[in-house]
Amino acid sequence: METKKEFNAIGVLTSGGDAPGMNAAIRAVVREALANKVRVKGIMRGYKGLLNEEIFDMQSVDVANIIQRGGTILGTARCLEFKEEEVQAKAADICRKQGIDGIVVIGGDGSYRGAQALARHGINTIGLPGTIDLDIACTEYTIGFDTAVNTAMDAIDKVKDTSSSHERCSIIEVMGRHAGYIALWCGIANGAEDILIPEKYDYSEQRIVDHIIENRRKGKKHHLIINAEGIGHSTSMAKRIEAATGIETRATILGYMQRGGAPTCKDRYYASIMGAYATDILLQGKTNRVVCYRDGRFVDLDIEEALQMTKGFPEYEYNISKNL
Ligand code: ADP
Ligand code: F6P
Repeated sequence: METKKEFNAIGVLTSGGDAPGMNAAIRAVVREALANKVRVKGIMRGYKGLLNEEIFDMQSVDVANIIQRGGTILGTARCLEFKEEEVQAKAADICRKQGIDGIVVIGGDGSYRGAQALARHGINTIGLPGTIDLDIACTEYTIGFDTAVNTAMDAIDKVKDTSSSHERCSIIEVMGRHAGYIALWCGIANGAEDILIPEKYDYSEQRIVDHIIENRRKGKKHHLIINAEGIGHSTSMAKRIEAATGIETRATILGYMQRGGAPTCKDRYYASIMGAYATDILLQGKTNRVVCYRDGRFVDLDIEEALQMTKGFPEYEYNISKNL
């Protein structure tokens, strides 16, 4: 591959919530850069580590044996002060001092804003979509979602076994503070009777109660409700539903287990391709771009354009889930 600008070194950091597959992306960035004879600097703990100059040279061996590991070897942190102009200018100065000409930022929408700020201050940046929530509008794939839904699906199957044996109702809360994609996918994949997602919930528990009673009359031995974190309150909801239906109801909050664990093949594969792609376009001199997966292809978009997009809700999938 031809490189347009002379690159001394590129940096890589992970920011926001971690996601399985981030290590595969880091590995790909490091190996693709080294293959193009460009040095790589690992930046620990996101923008916080950049400001603290927690920066180290990465060799090929530093990313050996990590593709199968969950989490991020670079660590991640929230750094609220990075929203301030003078802090962003300081971070860009640190990059220049460290000989970092460009950075690959792996994270969500918030992390893209930080990347945009660095680009404004003269540091070339490329964003990669890293979040289990699938809530980045510009891309149909985000690093970690596939692993998270598979982890949640397995856990829900297990709860469903015991729930059926005891002829109980189960409310299982999955992650997604602002988005219901994990809930929708698991709701369909686990055959849930009700799927509660922030984009659609009408706060009518009576409708759920009626549904449970109707199903019990039809002879159903269990009733599985997948509740998104964005709605929450699963434990108190379980108590109210038990009181209203007379059917034993238990709540299970899956929590952070959904963010960990070995990435699936899909997450390793897509994250690897995206990591290499980000490095290639960075070395071609592109900046302020985000790598996306759209219509079956890996593409890159301007960060501002990407941030302005809104994600269409999968209405059809949600509607038919009620019939399945
Ligand atoms: P995510 O990247 O997953 O959306 P956050 O929203 O927590 O997660 O953002 C991660 C980090 O990105 C923040 O801790 C902060 O350092 C940086 N960031 C978020 N918003 C901005 C912003 N408006 N300007 C600059 N940096 C930002
Ligand atoms: O990674 C995304 C996510 O899991 C959201 O679904 C959740 O709201 C959030 O991260 C919680 O993360 P933390 O507790 O680390 O801020």
